[in-house]
Amino acid sequence: MDVKLAKKTAAIEAVNYVENGFIVGLGTGSTAYFAIQEIATRIKQKVLTISGAVSTSLQTEQIARQANIPLLNSFEKIDITIDGADEIDPNGNLIKGGGAALTREKIVAAATENLVIVVDQSKLVKKLGAFPLPLEILPFGWETTYKKVESFGCRIGVRKADHKLVITDNGNYVFDCKFLEIDEPEKLSVELNQIPGVVENGLFIGLTKTAIVGRENQNTEITRF
Ligand code: 5RP
Repeated sequence: MDVKLAKKTAAIEAVNYVENGFIVGLGTGSTAYFAIQEIATRIKQKVLTISGAVSTSLQTEQIARQANIPLLNSFEKIDITIDGADEIDPNGNLIKGGGAALTREKIVAAATENLVIVVDQSKLVKKLGAFPLPLEILPFGWETTYKKVESFGCRIGVRKADHKLVITDNGNYVFDCKFLEIDEPEKLSVELNQIPGVVENGLFIGLTKTAIVGRENQNTEITRF
């Protein structure tokens, strides 16, 4: 399966929802990347003008700057955000944070009128949880936070890359929590965020307004929530 083409197809379709004058949230990851490039192309071709863009990570900020997309330093309300996901269930609930950007992504998603999630079909699940749930964790006292998170019945991996701890854009660690199946994602999200030391979790509940699934034959399926 050509996953890249499926991702690109979904991302390009999503850009059709961006209207002139919009404030646009830019997601993080390989699917959102295609949307950022498409937005940049349309701005350059003068077929789209946006009021400004909000980035969900330093990585995306760099991509947007290179593509000459005007970035905003502050925001209250965002008209549309295009972002990827690690899993999406039939209700549009998500697991995000595979790229360690979950906290900024959730802040941006929660400020957005139309959160458009772009995925290839491998991200569709009946129930969330097969993908390990990312949690952003304050380094201070992380060992005690680990014990408290573990008591929820998951296996935790402290995220590393090249044998080094991954540090988020906010200076924190990431726990990847293997639950296998999450029965009550909304309840779990609330409870995890009550643990001191948990900055944010990767469950995005009730935030998705539009989901676009790209197929490798360049068809898309669009669901509104
Ligand atoms: C980053 C994310 C990404 O949106 C998610 O990991 C999907 O990434 P990709 O589009 O590369 O498959 O949540 O924190």
